Amino acid sequence: MTGNCAVILAAGEGTRMKSKKPKVLAEVLFKPMIDWVIESAKACGMEEENICVVTGHGKELLTAHLPQGVRTVEQTERLGTGHAVMQAREFLRSHGSANVLILGGDAPFMDGETVACALQYHTRANSAATVISADVSEPTGYGRILRDKNGDFSGIVEEKDANDAQKQIREVNSGAYWFNIQALLIALEQMETNAKYRLNAAKEYYLTDAIEILRSMGQRVSTFNSKSPDVVLGANDRDQLAQLNEIARLQVIRRHRLAGVSIPFDTGVVIGTDVQIGRDAEILQGTILKGKTVIGEDAVIGPNAVLENCTVGEGACVVQTFGTDVTVGANTQVGPFARLRPGTQIGADVRVGNFVEVKNSTVGDGTKISHLSYIGDTDVGQNVNVGSGCATVNFTGKEKFRTTIGDHAFIGCDTSLVAPVRVGARAYTGAGSTITEDVPDDALALGRARQVIKKDWVKVKNPYRK
Ligand code: UD1
Ligand code: CA
Repeated sequence: MTGNCAVILAAGEGTRMKSKKPKVLAEVLFKPMIDWVIESAKACGMEEENICVVTGHGKELLTAHLPQGVRTVEQTERLGTGHAVMQAREFLRSHGSANVLILGGDAPFMDGETVACALQYHTRANSAATVISADVSEPTGYGRILRDKNGDFSGIVEEKDANDAQKQIREVNSGAYWFNIQALLIALEQMETNAKYRLNAAKEYYLTDAIEILRSMGQRVSTFNSKSPDVVLGANDRDQLAQLNEIARLQVIRRHRLAGVSIPFDTGVVIGTDVQIGRDAEILQGTILKGKTVIGEDAVIGPNAVLENCTVGEGACVVQTFGTDVTVGANTQVGPFARLRPGTQIGADVRVGNFVEVKNSTVGDGTKISHLSYIGDTDVGQNVNVGSGCATVNFTGKEKFRTTIGDHAFIGCDTSLVAPVRVGARAYTGAGSTITEDVPDDALALGRARQVIKKDWVKVKNPYRK
């Protein structure tokens, strides 16, 4: 498949999204639509430099978002899908006589498998062009596929140009095509020079006319009918975007269920496309798993956990927790109400309890931080016990410093560890201590005022008590 390339049309504004961002950056399952489309192109073996995105509205935002290798061309005026492809002519010429995949940047469900199968079909049939079509129940708005009495493909008519009989047709143009590059270049040339190709209702250059031109030249043009009607779906406003999200959400949940993940109730469960979940793991209501999150076998996540780019070990339990860029070891229990911030690595058999925040820290196996503590920029050893209400004082207001807590140390309740500071292995800190100096191994450190008893103080001095 080497030599093939893709052109992704993404210059449209998407006015009805009412967004500052270009439409193709609108997200389906937390992933901009353009990323879905780029992945489909890559799924048929294309490198980033063989992918060209036609930008226009919101060009800066879009270009900044695209992967480095992806090429871009700008369409300064929106004169139609045919005109958009014309902007990529130089890119097309540099790919010689291979095939080009044309994709709409706003149709995220045009998947890699469908375009790969369409390419196979296109190559075997030795076609100049192959249109990917689908049979849909709601064809309104799409170009309709016309067929002659024998059922052979005979053209595409746009909604705006269709008569009533044609509007009844349910087979529609997905907006994705494979073209032989040389054939496409010739068709674009004709489209540009022959004024009749702009006499349509939209007064635009229709890419669909390239199909018409090739047919009239006697070239072979085929259709590839996709099994799934979803491949044509796009979103013009946020209501339609929500519908795409729901379709994708249920698809991902179904895939995990069939792979052995337990999701007994899917209410509020949203799982990104790249998340991996082991067998017999259980995902409970209100849980959102994003990015490159990996959940081990038998883990229980939720209810109401939000994890992004997290790795959770086997048998771990993460309840009502926010976690970003962290790893949690096997059989560790987190939450409810914990916050795990980036750069945190928590070992196995750990307990991170309610109202605990851990940031940019390592926590060794078997350690317990059960209640109401802040652990930041800290290396906590194994089998440490951190009492309730402890804080690492990691920030001077200007600089951050690290804290080290040795294995088997016991940090008394309400200890403040003022960094940089080290508590040795097996050492204790007394409850309520403010620890500013290193504590040697096996020592007890007390850093608090000695208690004073004033006998009968209430009876003698307190004017409010009789
Ligand atoms: C197009 C097809 C239609 C098909 C439908 C599928 C044509 C003439 N019609 O219609 O047959 O059923 O897609 O969704 O091609 N774009 C540009 N520059 C432009 C115009 C469009 O980059 O000047 C981009 C848009 O940003 C979008 C894609 O091309 O990503 C499709 O454009 P859109 O206007 O949505 O095409 P449709 O009219 O829906
Ligand atoms: Ca469209």
